[in-house]
Amino acid sequence: MTAAPGPGGAPSVWPRTAVLDGGALVEVGGVAAGDLVARFGTPLHVLDRAELVGRMRAYRDAFAGDEVVYAAKALCVTGVLQLAAAEGLGVDVAGGGELATALHARVPPARIWLHGNDKSVPELRAAVEAGVGRIVADGFDDLARTDALARALGVRQPVLLRITPGVEAATHRAIATAGEDAKFGFSLSTGEARRAVDRTLALPGLDLRGLHCHVGSQVVDLDAFALAAERLVGLLADVRDRHGRTLPELNLGGGLGIRYLAGDPEVPLPDYATALREAVAKACTVHDLPVPRLVVEPGRSIAGPAGLTLYTVGTVKEVPGVRTFAAVDGGMGENPRPALYGARYTFAPAGRGRAAGAVRPTTVAGRHCESGDLLGIDVPLPVDLAAGDLLAMAATGAYAQSMASTYNRFPRPPVVLVGDGDARVLVRGETVAEVLSRDVPLDQDAADGPRPRA
Ligand SMILES: Cc1ncc(COP(=O)(O)O)c(C=O)c1O
Repeated sequence: MTAAPGPGGAPSVWPRTAVLDGGALVEVGGVAAGDLVARFGTPLHVLDRAELVGRMRAYRDAFAGDEVVYAAKALCVTGVLQLAAAEGLGVDVAGGGELATALHARVPPARIWLHGNDKSVPELRAAVEAGVGRIVADGFDDLARTDALARALGVRQPVLLRITPGVEAATHRAIATAGEDAKFGFSLSTGEARRAVDRTLALPGLDLRGLHCHVGSQVVDLDAFALAAERLVGLLADVRDRHGRTLPELNLGGGLGIRYLAGDPEVPLPDYATALREAVAKACTVHDLPVPRLVVEPGRSIAGPAGLTLYTVGTVKEVPGVRTFAAVDGGMGENPRPALYGARYTFAPAGRGRAAGAVRPTTVAGRHCESGDLLGIDVPLPVDLAAGDLLAMAATGAYAQSMASTYNRFPRPPVVLVGDGDARVLVRGETVAEVLSRDVPLDQDAADGPRPRA
């Protein structure tokens, strides 16, 4: 049996406490896969506490002296945000629901950053009233609304401006965010960013603290991060030159990619931190600016590798000469990424005594009524895979549970945190009754409750 190698060891897509035997996942966090399934059923999202906290600490160390803000959108669960806060990370929230979760987790409001390209007035009010540390303004309407609310509440709200630096990072279009044709932010090349600075400085309810950008997600090209940093420092210099103001903060967003398949490239965290710091320092020297305080907002690279999902195979179907399908009891409901943008994952049989043995290409099908609901296409799985077998899917901690739906009325599965031989529920599994409870039948009067049948 081998424990999955941790950071610095041989590449692994499994969390650091995962134990594999003959290619099969037998335990994680000191808990046997079979026991997890016996207790919580499948599908089941499992989070390895050691991997999750280890990654939070690694970020904190790599950016010591600067600030690390966990991007809650990757996995917005109260327990996870509590861990982030306990490890000294701030939390970036993308709207009112995530803000409420961060407050529920008792993240200090001053360490909360609110994002969003169309924040509503109630969301902004909740954020300003809570005293969030920063609001990242995304457009002129956003600036006007935030200013009006702050003045009405008698405060000066610290803000950053989200800038679109025109950097095309090599990633999927759906998760690239900083090219010119993006819905987010003020464009640098069109001059909008400069106008946004001018406008912000003229609004008395706002305290402009710095600039923000986010080049995209699942990015492993350090040059893209460095180029964006360089361009933003150029804008900081422009602000200084035109307004005599030296803005103290530069938030370079998140986006660092992770390994989903054994051969995927992964950038060591210290290299990423060095690349950002060097790019900023170099550009500051060029512009004769003091180095601003750096902020990063990692989501995927904290939560992603800490997660795995367990499934039960329900049906194996062979189409001779075409392909073998293994249908599992989940799919695009609890993990829409493969169907949404072709994301690829690693799979392994799970459970003791289930060594992989001879394998063949197998397509892991979800149970949702969509031909495209395929979790993995032609992945190597045992030739004798059969109904009732368990499958584990690696690196599902980010953007799976957080993007889940109840499509086809399949309730969303639980999330459990494992560590030191213990498993505890962070998110309860949903029931069909809970899904149904939001429906209001036509024969039910909303005000009077259910109408008796005649
Ligand atoms: C503004 C912002 N910050 C941080 C992130 C987190 O990115 P990732 O999970 O790739 O690190 C995102 C993701 O879309 C984002 O939009």
